[in-house]
Amino acid sequence: MRVRAESGADVPTTREVVAAAFGEEPVADLLDALRESDAWRHLSFVAEENGEVVGHVSFTRGWLDAPQRLVEVLVLSPLSVRPDMQRSGVGAALVRASLEQLEVRDEPLVFLEGSPAYYPRLGFVPGATLGLTAPSTRIPAPAFQVMTLPTYEPWMRGALVYPDVFWRHDAVGLRDPSAAPHD
Ligand SMILES: CC(C)(COP(=O)(O)OP(=O)(O)OC[C@H]1O[C@@H](n2cnc3c(N)ncnc32)[C@H](O)[C@@H]1OP(=O)(O)O)[C@@H](O)C(=O)NCCC(=O)NCCS
Repeated sequence: MRVRAESGADVPTTREVVAAAFGEEPVADLLDALRESDAWRHLSFVAEENGEVVGHVSFTRGWLDAPQRLVEVLVLSPLSVRPDMQRSGVGAALVRASLEQLEVRDEPLVFLEGSPAYYPRLGFVPGATLGLTAPSTRIPAPAFQVMTLPTYEPWMRGALVYPDVFWRHDAVGLRDPSAAPHD
């Protein structure tokens, strides 16, 4: 298995892998919209096994609303591994290898929303430990995680701001379907 930058030719297969991993189309639609948006930074990586794309991850631009100024940061989303290849280390290898590629970037932080049972093994910590706050109260605190990159400095505190695409796709945090309409 190897991890490499995604090429234009991979895009249709990547879409299939994302839809299969999440078991639904909306996340694949989110990825398509990210590709078309000004948040896209061409930081999209695939895991390849026997010549087939079996996993994908991309990183797009968000902002940290720090006291001094807005800082461009990265958001890891989505991360997908083809269902038949899950739990065999593909996701971990994909994240580790792509984070190595990000070491030379100017962005100081990589944020994500995800399982606190999964991402700490890859080096992510809860955002609150660095004075970072989530863009929505619907993101459970343990799920709001961050990793520092080499350009990180301790003054970089404040709220993560998502680009418009995540909101248009209602891809932020968790909804409560049991809440009354006007709760
Ligand atoms: C989450 C995902 C990317 C992990 O990739 P993977 O290649 O299956 O994971 P790895 O092989 O690197 O790691 C496997 C370990 O992670 C754990 N793990 C996998 N997915 C997990 C999840 N969603 N929550 C918590 N732990 C998870 C497993 O328990 C496993 O540990 P174990 O072997 O001790 O049981 C993959 O399962 C996937 O595509 N899931 C569907 C889409 C998704 O939920 N994406 C992440 C959104 S934040």
